[in-house]
Amino acid sequence: MRQRTFGRLGWNVSEIGFGSWALGSNWGPQNDEDSVKAVHRALDLGCNFIDTARAYGDGRSERVITRALKERPRGSVYVATKVPPVLPGDWPPSPYDTIEQRYPNSHVRAEVEKSLRDLQTDCLDLIQIHTWSRAWNRNPTAFEELRKLRQEGKVKGIGISTPEHDQNAVMDLIREGWLDSVQLIYNIFSQEAQEGLFVEAQKHNVAVIVRVAFDESALTGKLTEATTFPEGDIRGNYFAGDRLARTVRRVEAIKQVVAGTEPNVATAALKFALKPPAVSTVIAGIRNAGQAERNCAVGSQAPMSDELEAKLRTHYWRRAFWHQGK
Ligand SMILES: NC(=O)c1ccc[n+]([C@@H]2O[C@H](COP(=O)([O-])OP(=O)(O)OC[C@H]3O[C@@H](n4cnc5c(N)ncnc54)[C@H](OP(=O)(O)O)[C@@H]3O)[C@@H](O)[C@H]2O)c1
Repeated sequence: MRQRTFGRLGWNVSEIGFGSWALGSNWGPQNDEDSVKAVHRALDLGCNFIDTARAYGDGRSERVITRALKERPRGSVYVATKVPPVLPGDWPPSPYDTIEQRYPNSHVRAEVEKSLRDLQTDCLDLIQIHTWSRAWNRNPTAFEELRKLRQEGKVKGIGISTPEHDQNAVMDLIREGWLDSVQLIYNIFSQEAQEGLFVEAQKHNVAVIVRVAFDESALTGKLTEATTFPEGDIRGNYFAGDRLARTVRRVEAIKQVVAGTEPNVATAALKFALKPPAVSTVIAGIRNAGQAERNCAVGSQAPMSDELEAKLRTHYWRRAFWHQGK
């Protein structure tokens, strides 16, 4: 598996990282045994970067990752986790929410302590603020608290995950030097990061973690208009109403574009996300060993041609406020 440099932290991370949301919650039934096997398979194949969060099952994803890591020599596997906002509350946050309400210092500290406990470590590799409001850019107290935690030796890197409806909200934080990494959505449909986030991240040597490269599984090419999702699977909301049919039609068009050049849409989706030089790693969502194999394999295959990337850029789809479902 090829590796890339993780921004100013200088880590060598695998091109394909492990996205572990489904291991914790929100993706329908998930068996912990399958999760542990998936983590082992990915790490066996050279993946050395895992993304998780407190919010993924109130630490369940963190705990299952810990279980797998304890079954093998640790080596240099980087685990990134996230501090949720105070809940209940809007996600992404309302513009009227204050940082004192959603990310008070005491909450940031308490959540970091919970991650240290569930990841069974004295120091987190990377802690990310899970969502954000641009209203807080002038008073980013949560990052001051994370810096204190870094001075205390409890975290190494500090990052953020973009709010899905307003990804450029984190631009000021990059410019003002608060971030070692930014986690953002970039895929064949959602290409907003090309507007400036990639450029700014590179300029400030901030690592870029790409999430949702498959557009919540649509860009694996396996969904049909008849696909149904189990109860508790976020895709029931994400593809609510006519969204599934509209998405499937667009994926069918993409299949025609990649045919003959890439083996399938899933491979093309990961390679497309890996094209921008600013990207450090693409955290593919993985929930079983088979997906670990298929996704990790892409990290040692030939990159996508510039020509195919240019064709796929025309499939940019501006969906505005889509993420919370209808
Ligand atoms: N706000 C945030 O910070 C935020 C938000 C979203 C995601 N994330 C992070 O980013 C990661 C990736 O995003 P995501 O998991 O939401 O979505 P994704 O990567 O776009 O899609 C992942 C899903 O696609 C299916 N899949 C994966 N590989 C496949 C393959 N080779 N063939 C067929 N199906 C495959 C799996 O679901 P099925 O097998 O059930 O179909 C899997 O759960 C997350 O796991 C999480 O770590 C962060």
